[in-house]
Amino acid sequence: MKILVIHGPNLNLLGTREPEVYGYHTLDDINQALTKVADAHQSVLRFFQSNHEGQIIDAIHDARDWASGILINPGAFTHYAYALRDAIAAVNLPVVEVHLSNIYAREPFRHHSVLAAVCLGQITGFGWRSYVWGLMALLNHLQQQE
Ligand code: DQA
Repeated sequence: MKILVIHGPNLNLLGTREPEVYGYHTLDDINQALTKVADAHQSVLRFFQSNHEGQIIDAIHDARDWASGILINPGAFTHYAYALRDAIAAVNLPVVEVHLSNIYAREPFRHHSVLAAVCLGQITGFGWRSYVWGLMALLNHLQQQE
């Protein structure tokens, strides 16, 4: 299975960005942990990080041609990016939304995800492990479809 892993805005700064909230793992650390999980499930990952909503939308459109599913941490786009929501709804691929922090335990503006309703599910609050659980949930879902 081929999975697109999308890291949204400001996640390129992981490791130094508010580590008390997001932890000390860098994006590379997270990608390496995900690669181990993918290897164990005979799956391949493609990583994409962008700070720009349009580029993320383009990557989601492009995934129609090659990916079985998408794992995404949309960063702050989670809370207001309707065009991103429409892109997810448009491509007909299973998408799992993940967050390092527990968005429901933070500022009120983070309590709502405009993407959650068009995603397969959401994992939030487990630090870098949210990505790992999210990938496992997505692979498990895809295996059930086979
Ligand atoms: C985040 C939560 C968002 O509210 C925030 O804007 C981020 C990171 C998380 O992983 O906890 O950039 O998606």
